[in-house]
Parts: sequence; C-alpha cells; structure tokens
Amino acid sequence: MNIAVNDLKPSFPVRRMDYVFENTERYWMANDPIATHYFTSLSLLFPEGEKYFVESVRAVRDLVKNNPQLEKDIGAFIGQEAMHSKEHHAFHATARKYNLDPDSLEKNVGVILRKYFTFGNPKLNLAITAGLEHFTAVIVVEMMAKISHEMTDDTIRHLWLWHSIEETEHKAVAFDVYQEIYGSGVSAYLPRVAMFSLGVAMLFTVQTDMMIRLIARDKQLGNLKSWAKFMGTIGLGLPALTPQFLKYFHPKFHPNDTDESQLVAETKVRIGLADALTTIASRSTALPA
Ligand SMILES: [Fe+2]
Ligand SMILES: [Fe+2]
Repeated sequence: MNIAVNDLKPSFPVRRMDYVFENTERYWMANDPIATHYFTSLSLLFPEGEKYFVESVRAVRDLVKNNPQLEKDIGAFIGQEAMHSKEHHAFHATARKYNLDPDSLEKNVGVILRKYFTFGNPKLNLAITAGLEHFTAVIVVEMMAKISHEMTDDTIRHLWLWHSIEETEHKAVAFDVYQEIYGSGVSAYLPRVAMFSLGVAMLFTVQTDMMIRLIARDKQLGNLKSWAKFMGTIGLGLPALTPQFLKYFHPKFHPNDTDESQLVAETKVRIGLADALTTIASRSTALPA
C-alpha cells in the first residue's frame, strides 16, 4: 500500500557538517569587536533556540499525517535544525578561545526558553517557531547578499552561508504545519502574529543582553570607534528590514511569497556545496530556451 507515499522525498536535503574552528582571529567580522560580538550573540541563540523549534514541530507531527509531503519535510526540517544547533555550538569555540565564556550564555537561553516561552499549548509554541522562522528568513537574505562578505575567516563564512541556504530551503515548513493544523482564520491569525511579536521582542532582548556581556568580558564597552561603526552599519541596516518583517502581519502572508532561489543558487556555488550544480541544472531546464 501507499507505494507513492513511501517514494516521497523531502523537498530539501539534510547536509551533515562537521566544522573545525581553528586559528580564528579574535575579530572575524570586519576586523571589528562590536560587529563580531553582535554575530556571536546572534549565534548563541541558535543551539537552544533551534532545539525549541524542533520540539515545537515534533510535538504536533502526528497531526499532519494526512499530508505526506509535509510530513517528509518535517523530518528534513528537524534534521537541518538539529545540525544547525550542533554546528553553532561548535562555532562558539571562536569565543571560548578568547575566554569569553559563551557556554554560560548559551545555557541561559535554554533556561529562558523553558521558563518563559514554553507554553502548555503546542499551538503557541509552534506559532513562536513559525514567526521566528520568518524573522530568520529575512535576515539570511542579508547574510547571503551582503553581511557574509565582511567575514574574514573562510570556515566561519561557510558556516553562516550553509545555515542561510538551509533556512531559506525550509522557511515554509513550520508555517505550513501551523496552517495545516489550525487553518488561516482569525483564531489562527491572531496567535500567529501575537507570538511573532513576542518572539521577536524576546530575541532582541536576550541577544542584546548577551552581546553587552560579551563586549564587557572582552573589555570593549568603551570602544567608541567600533560602536560608531556598528551603529552606522548594522544599527541602521536592521531597522531598514522592518517592511520585510511586517509582511508577516498580512492575513494572506505565506513564506514562499518571496523567491530567493537565484541568491541561494549563487551562494551554493560560492561555498562549493555538492548540490550546487544540480540546482543550477534544474534552474536552467526550467528557464525558457
Ligand atoms: Fe537553523
Ligand atoms: Fe529554521
């Protein structure tokens, strides 16, 4: 029975990575302390944060059994996010090396998520996940198009670009699971946008706190030149993304309303991913002659 269902494949692959971060410079982001600590603090959210995403989707997996393709994609989503957790934890060697104790901060993210953001209601956990997946999907476009060019270490750049590609590949999974189970009416829409707002507020608060702690531990709080550079780049760049973030509030929003396939194909070539040529071949067969 169900030969066709058994033959279904996920829409995207799970790639096994095992990065080794050796001989990394102290300030690998644009040779700049504040920018480096900003991205380390962003990364510190991932090991525990992506575990939360996995758990929130896994908790409702049985409710999408009647959509075999989505079920397959949930498996690949879990595989990708679990690998991101593992590799970003490994990446924190770049801060451990300079005695910034990233592990205490990483652990604290898990404590906060369990204490304040894990609800008895799986719908709300899933809504936080779907919302933060949209936030991530917006950020990774900037990462692929601009930010990664400022990274001075090849392995670090590879990590962030691989993660960005995969975030784009699975950007619709949590959202589709949410709508498959809860629909798109008012009773689904309101928790969806409320949890997105709460999730983004939590992310900014926790990340900013960790960033300040890293900068203080590195004795760079008084580095006004670096702060000025940061405010002129990331400080201005992030608010400029507000229109993309706000698209999530449209009642008919869907993650696939935007198409990043060209940027993803170029990024795969940049970092030499094994499936880059397949992607380009399938794109060119889809193009008119
Ligand atoms: Fe991820
Ligand atoms: Fe994700």
